[in-house]
Amino acid sequence: MSTRPGKNVPAENPSDPTAERAPMTIPRVAEMKANGEPIVMVTAYDFPSAQVVEEAGVDIVLVGDTAAMVVLGHDATTPVGMDEMVMLTQAVRRGLETPLLIGDMPFGSYESSNEQAIANAQRFVKEARVDAVKLERGGASVDRARAIVRSGIPVMGHVGLTPQTATALGGFKAQGRTAETAAKLAEDTLALQSVGCFAVVFEAIPASVAEALMERIEVPIIGIGAGPATDGQVLVFHDMLGMYQGHQPRFVRRYAEVRDEMLKGVSAYAADVRSRSFPDEKHSYSISPEELAEFKRYLEEESLAGTDTPWDW
Ligand code: KIV
Repeated sequence: MSTRPGKNVPAENPSDPTAERAPMTIPRVAEMKANGEPIVMVTAYDFPSAQVVEEAGVDIVLVGDTAAMVVLGHDATTPVGMDEMVMLTQAVRRGLETPLLIGDMPFGSYESSNEQAIANAQRFVKEARVDAVKLERGGASVDRARAIVRSGIPVMGHVGLTPQTATALGGFKAQGRTAETAAKLAEDTLALQSVGCFAVVFEAIPASVAEALMERIEVPIIGIGAGPATDGQVLVFHDMLGMYQGHQPRFVRRYAEVRDEMLKGVSAYAADVRSRSFPDEKHSYSISPEELAEFKRYLEEESLAGTDTPWDW
Protein backbone atom coordinates (compact mmCIF):
# COMPACT_ATOMS: atom_id res chain seq x y z
CA MET A 1 0.00 0.00 0.00
CA SER A 2 3.01 2.26 0.49
CA THR A 3 3.33 4.36 -2.65
CA ARG A 4 5.46 7.12 -1.25
CA PRO A 5 8.54 7.98 -3.28
CA GLY A 6 11.92 8.86 -1.90
CA LYS A 7 14.19 7.18 0.57
CA ASN A 8 13.97 3.74 -1.02
CA VAL A 9 17.45 2.82 0.09
CA PRO A 10 18.07 -0.08 2.45
CA ALA A 11 19.71 1.04 5.68
CA GLU A 12 23.28 -0.18 5.96
CA ASN A 13 22.78 -0.79 9.64
CA PRO A 14 19.10 -1.39 10.47
CA SER A 15 19.68 -0.77 14.17
CA ASP A 16 21.07 2.74 13.54
CA PRO A 17 18.01 5.02 13.82
CA THR A 18 19.80 7.89 12.07
CA ALA A 19 20.70 5.83 8.97
CA GLU A 20 18.77 6.41 5.75
CA ARG A 21 16.00 3.81 5.84
CA ALA A 22 13.76 2.30 3.23
CA PRO A 23 10.01 2.77 3.78
CA MET A 24 8.73 -0.20 5.76
CA THR A 25 6.60 -2.67 3.81
CA ILE A 26 4.53 -5.70 4.76
CA PRO A 27 6.97 -8.14 3.07
CA ARG A 28 9.76 -6.47 5.04
CA VAL A 29 7.84 -7.03 8.31
CA ALA A 30 7.58 -10.74 7.39
CA GLU A 31 11.27 -10.77 6.55
CA MET A 32 12.10 -9.28 9.95
CA LYS A 33 10.24 -12.15 11.60
CA ALA A 34 12.05 -14.68 9.41
CA ASN A 35 15.42 -13.13 10.29
CA GLY A 36 14.59 -12.90 14.00
CA GLU A 37 14.90 -9.08 13.95
CA PRO A 38 12.73 -7.55 16.70
CA ILE A 39 9.91 -5.41 15.26
CA VAL A 40 9.40 -2.06 16.99
CA MET A 41 5.85 -0.71 16.98
CA VAL A 42 4.46 2.29 18.86
CA THR A 43 1.31 4.37 18.76
CA ALA A 44 1.14 8.02 17.68
CA TYR A 45 -1.79 10.39 17.41
CA ASP A 46 -0.55 13.70 16.02
CA PHE A 47 2.04 15.42 13.84
CA PRO A 48 4.76 16.08 16.46
CA SER A 49 4.60 12.55 17.90
CA ALA A 50 4.78 11.18 14.34
CA GLN A 51 7.93 13.20 13.73
CA VAL A 52 9.43 11.82 16.96
CA VAL A 53 8.71 8.17 16.14
CA GLU A 54 9.96 8.69 12.58
CA GLU A 55 13.24 10.10 13.85
CA ALA A 56 13.55 7.39 16.51
CA GLY A 57 13.45 4.81 13.72
CA VAL A 58 10.48 2.66 14.72
CA ASP A 59 9.19 0.10 12.22
CA ILE A 60 5.40 0.31 12.61
CA VAL A 61 3.18 3.16 13.83
CA LEU A 62 -0.36 2.51 14.97
CA VAL A 63 -2.87 5.30 15.32
CA GLY A 64 -4.62 3.37 18.05
CA ASP A 65 -8.14 3.83 19.32
CA THR A 66 -6.39 4.33 22.68
CA ALA A 67 -6.55 7.93 21.41
CA ALA A 68 -10.02 7.90 22.98
CA MET A 69 -8.37 7.66 26.40
CA VAL A 70 -4.90 9.18 26.19
CA VAL A 71 -5.75 12.05 23.82
CA LEU A 72 -9.50 12.66 24.13
CA GLY A 73 -9.91 11.91 27.86
CA HIS A 74 -12.58 9.19 27.70
CA ASP A 75 -12.46 6.33 30.21
CA ALA A 76 -12.66 3.66 27.48
CA THR A 77 -11.71 3.24 23.82
CA THR A 78 -15.31 2.72 22.64
CA PRO A 79 -16.46 6.37 22.30
CA VAL A 80 -14.03 7.31 19.52
CA GLY A 81 -15.44 7.23 15.97
CA MET A 82 -14.17 7.08 12.40
CA ASP A 83 -14.16 10.85 11.84
CA GLU A 84 -11.90 11.43 14.85
CA MET A 85 -9.64 8.49 13.97
CA VAL A 86 -9.26 9.67 10.38
CA MET A 87 -8.41 13.20 11.50
CA LEU A 88 -5.74 11.95 13.94
CA THR A 89 -4.34 9.54 11.34
CA GLN A 90 -4.08 12.31 8.74
CA ALA A 91 -1.98 14.32 11.19
CA VAL A 92 0.30 11.33 11.84
CA ARG A 93 0.62 10.66 8.09
CA ARG A 94 1.94 14.22 7.60
CA GLY A 95 4.76 13.55 10.05
CA LEU A 96 5.70 10.09 8.83
CA GLU A 97 7.77 8.83 5.90
CA THR A 98 9.36 5.53 6.75
CA PRO A 99 7.39 3.34 9.21
CA LEU A 100 4.39 1.29 8.20
CA LEU A 101 1.27 3.26 9.18
CA ILE A 102 -1.73 1.40 10.57
CA GLY A 103 -5.17 2.85 11.27
CA ASP A 104 -7.08 1.24 14.14
CA MET A 105 -10.71 0.49 13.24
CA PRO A 106 -12.73 1.96 16.12
CA PHE A 107 -15.60 0.23 17.92
CA GLY A 108 -18.73 0.32 15.74
CA SER A 109 -16.83 0.81 12.47
CA TYR A 110 -16.62 -2.81 11.30
CA GLU A 111 -18.87 -5.12 13.32
CA SER A 112 -22.19 -4.65 11.47
CA SER A 113 -21.27 -6.09 8.08
CA ASN A 114 -18.40 -6.82 5.73
CA GLU A 115 -19.58 -3.86 3.61
CA GLN A 116 -19.30 -1.51 6.60
CA ALA A 117 -15.84 -2.89 7.43
CA ILE A 118 -14.57 -2.45 3.86
CA ALA A 119 -16.04 1.06 3.54
CA ASN A 120 -14.36 2.24 6.74
CA ALA A 121 -11.05 0.55 5.94
CA GLN A 122 -11.19 2.34 2.57
CA ARG A 123 -11.75 5.65 4.37
CA PHE A 124 -8.49 5.11 6.26
CA VAL A 125 -6.66 4.40 3.00
CA LYS A 126 -8.22 7.18 0.90
CA GLU A 127 -8.38 9.95 3.49
CA ALA A 128 -5.37 9.17 5.70
CA ARG A 129 -3.19 7.08 3.36
CA VAL A 130 -2.58 4.26 5.82
CA ASP A 131 -0.69 1.15 4.75
CA ALA A 132 -2.97 -1.20 6.71
CA VAL A 133 -5.78 -1.32 9.27
CA LYS A 134 -6.14 -3.19 12.57
CA LEU A 135 -9.25 -4.67 14.08
CA GLU A 136 -9.92 -6.46 17.35
CA ARG A 137 -10.95 -10.03 18.25
CA GLY A 138 -11.40 -13.36 16.56
CA GLY A 139 -14.91 -14.76 16.10
CA ALA A 140 -17.02 -12.53 13.86
CA SER A 141 -14.05 -10.22 13.25
CA VAL A 142 -12.36 -13.02 11.26
CA ASP A 143 -14.98 -12.62 8.54
CA ARG A 144 -14.50 -8.84 8.56
CA ALA A 145 -10.73 -9.26 8.32
CA ARG A 146 -11.15 -11.63 5.37
CA ALA A 147 -13.42 -9.16 3.58
CA ILE A 148 -11.02 -6.25 4.09
CA VAL A 149 -8.02 -8.31 2.97
CA ARG A 150 -9.96 -9.40 -0.15
CA SER A 151 -10.73 -5.77 -0.89
CA GLY A 152 -6.97 -5.21 -1.13
CA ILE A 153 -6.23 -3.63 2.24
CA PRO A 154 -3.77 -5.37 4.59
CA VAL A 155 -5.12 -6.20 8.05
CA MET A 156 -3.47 -6.66 11.44
CA GLY A 157 -5.46 -8.72 13.97
CA HIS A 158 -5.59 -8.17 17.73
CA VAL A 159 -6.41 -10.85 20.32
CA GLY A 160 -6.11 -11.37 24.07
CA LEU A 161 -7.27 -8.30 25.97
CA THR A 162 -9.32 -6.46 23.37
CA PRO A 163 -10.23 -3.15 24.99
CA GLN A 164 -13.26 -2.50 22.75
CA THR A 165 -14.97 -5.50 24.37
CA ALA A 166 -13.34 -5.25 27.80
CA THR A 167 -16.73 -5.28 29.53
CA ALA A 168 -17.56 -8.65 28.00
CA LEU A 169 -14.12 -9.90 29.06
CA GLY A 170 -14.74 -8.90 32.68
CA GLY A 171 -12.71 -5.69 32.56
CA PHE A 172 -9.18 -4.69 31.57
CA LYS A 173 -7.74 -8.06 32.62
CA ALA A 174 -5.11 -10.42 31.28
CA GLN A 175 -6.59 -13.12 29.05
CA GLY A 176 -5.66 -16.73 28.25
CA ARG A 177 -4.89 -17.66 31.83
CA THR A 178 -6.71 -20.99 31.66
CA ALA A 179 -6.05 -23.82 29.22
CA GLU A 180 -9.48 -23.24 27.72
CA THR A 181 -9.12 -19.50 27.14
CA ALA A 182 -5.53 -19.96 25.90
CA ALA A 183 -6.86 -22.51 23.38
CA LYS A 184 -9.47 -19.98 22.23
CA LEU A 185 -6.66 -17.46 21.75
CA ALA A 186 -4.75 -19.96 19.62
CA GLU A 187 -7.85 -20.66 17.50
CA ASP A 188 -8.57 -16.96 16.98
CA THR A 189 -4.96 -16.26 15.99
CA LEU A 190 -4.84 -19.14 13.52
CA ALA A 191 -8.19 -18.07 12.06
CA LEU A 192 -6.94 -14.49 11.57
CA GLN A 193 -3.77 -15.83 9.99
CA SER A 194 -5.77 -18.12 7.68
CA VAL A 195 -7.85 -15.23 6.28
CA GLY A 196 -4.71 -13.30 5.40
CA CYS A 197 -3.91 -11.01 8.35
CA PHE A 198 -0.28 -10.02 7.87
CA ALA A 199 0.37 -9.77 11.64
CA VAL A 200 -1.47 -10.11 14.95
CA VAL A 201 -1.22 -8.20 18.24
CA PHE A 202 -1.22 -10.26 21.46
CA GLU A 203 -2.36 -8.04 24.34
CA ALA A 204 -2.08 -8.98 28.02
CA ILE A 205 -1.62 -12.71 27.89
CA PRO A 206 0.77 -14.89 29.91
CA ALA A 207 4.32 -14.85 28.52
CA SER A 208 4.43 -18.65 28.55
CA VAL A 209 1.20 -18.91 26.54
CA ALA A 210 2.60 -16.49 23.95
CA GLU A 211 5.85 -18.43 23.83
CA ALA A 212 4.05 -21.75 23.32
CA LEU A 213 1.97 -20.22 20.52
CA MET A 214 4.91 -18.64 18.70
CA GLU A 215 6.06 -21.99 17.32
CA ARG A 216 2.68 -22.58 15.65
CA ILE A 217 2.17 -19.19 14.00
CA GLU A 218 3.64 -18.04 10.72
CA VAL A 219 2.71 -14.35 10.72
CA PRO A 220 4.56 -11.79 12.86
CA ILE A 221 3.18 -11.43 16.38
CA ILE A 222 3.49 -8.07 18.10
CA GLY A 223 3.14 -8.24 21.87
CA ILE A 224 1.92 -5.78 24.46
CA GLY A 225 2.00 -7.46 27.84
CA ALA A 226 2.68 -10.82 26.19
CA GLY A 227 6.28 -11.37 27.30
CA PRO A 228 9.54 -11.39 25.35
CA ALA A 229 8.92 -14.27 22.93
CA THR A 230 6.83 -12.35 20.39
CA ASP A 231 8.36 -11.04 17.15
CA GLY A 232 7.94 -7.43 18.21
CA GLN A 233 6.60 -5.15 20.88
CA VAL A 234 4.13 -2.26 20.90
CA LEU A 235 3.53 0.37 23.57
CA VAL A 236 1.20 3.35 23.77
CA PHE A 237 3.17 6.57 23.22
CA HIS A 238 1.60 8.42 26.14
CA ASP A 239 2.17 5.50 28.54
CA MET A 240 5.80 4.86 27.67
CA LEU A 241 6.70 8.55 27.85
CA GLY A 242 4.83 9.28 31.09
CA MET A 243 2.32 11.65 29.50
CA TYR A 244 -0.86 9.95 30.71
CA GLN A 245 -2.02 10.03 34.30
CA GLY A 246 -4.73 7.36 34.08
CA HIS A 247 -4.34 3.69 34.96
CA GLN A 248 -0.99 2.22 33.90
CA PRO A 249 -1.17 -1.46 32.96
CA ARG A 250 1.49 -3.76 34.43
CA PHE A 251 3.08 -4.16 30.99
CA VAL A 252 4.05 -0.50 30.59
CA ARG A 253 7.69 0.46 31.02
CA ARG A 254 8.17 4.22 31.29
CA TYR A 255 11.05 5.58 29.25
CA ALA A 256 10.55 9.26 30.10
CA GLU A 257 8.52 11.51 32.41
CA VAL A 258 7.26 13.98 29.83
CA ARG A 259 4.20 15.06 31.85
CA ASP A 260 6.47 16.18 34.69
CA GLU A 261 8.50 18.24 32.23
CA MET A 262 5.34 19.76 30.71
CA LEU A 263 4.02 20.64 34.16
CA LYS A 264 7.34 22.20 35.11
CA GLY A 265 7.36 24.25 31.91
CA VAL A 266 3.78 25.55 32.12
CA SER A 267 4.15 26.34 35.85
CA ALA A 268 7.35 28.30 35.19
CA TYR A 269 5.61 30.23 32.39
CA ALA A 270 2.65 31.08 34.67
CA ALA A 271 5.05 32.29 37.39
CA ASP A 272 6.98 34.44 34.90
CA VAL A 273 3.79 36.07 33.57
CA ARG A 274 2.60 36.79 37.10
CA SER A 275 5.94 38.28 38.14
CA ARG A 276 6.15 40.21 34.82
CA SER A 277 9.52 38.65 34.06
CA PHE A 278 8.08 37.37 30.76
CA PRO A 279 8.23 38.71 28.13
CA ASP A 280 11.63 40.39 28.34
CA GLU A 281 13.59 42.33 25.72
CA LYS A 282 14.78 39.16 24.02
CA HIS A 283 11.18 38.09 23.33
CA SER A 284 9.89 41.53 22.23
CA TYR A 285 10.01 43.55 19.00
CA SER A 286 11.64 46.98 18.71
CA ILE A 287 11.01 50.24 16.84
CA SER A 288 13.59 52.92 16.05
CA PRO A 289 13.73 55.85 18.56
CA GLU A 290 12.76 58.31 15.77
CA GLU A 291 9.66 56.34 14.77
CA LEU A 292 8.68 55.93 18.37
CA ALA A 293 9.08 59.67 19.07
CA GLU A 294 6.88 60.47 16.08
CA PHE A 295 4.26 57.99 17.20
CA LYS A 296 4.21 59.54 20.68
CA ARG A 297 3.81 63.02 19.16
CA TYR A 298 0.85 61.68 17.25
CA LEU A 299 -0.67 60.31 20.42
CA GLU A 300 -0.28 63.67 22.14
CA GLU A 301 -1.65 65.72 19.25
CA GLU A 302 -4.62 63.52 18.42
CA SER A 303 -7.11 62.94 21.13
CA LEU A 304 -7.91 59.33 20.28
CA ALA A 305 -10.32 58.83 23.10
CA GLY A 306 -13.89 59.63 22.13
CA THR A 307 -13.18 60.23 18.42
CA ASP A 308 -15.88 59.20 16.01
CA THR A 309 -15.55 55.69 14.63
CA PRO A 310 -13.30 55.90 11.57
CA TRP A 311 -15.61 53.86 9.39
CA ASP A 312 -18.72 55.41 8.05
CA TRP A 313 -21.56 53.02 8.48
O1 KIV B 1 -5.31 1.17 20.40
C1 KIV B 1 -4.15 0.84 20.69
O2 KIV B 1 -3.31 1.65 21.08
C2 KIV B 1 -3.80 -0.58 20.55
C3 KIV B 1 -2.46 -1.01 21.02
C4 KIV B 1 -2.45 -1.10 22.49
C5 KIV B 1 -2.02 -2.27 20.38
O3 KIV B 1 -4.59 -1.35 20.09
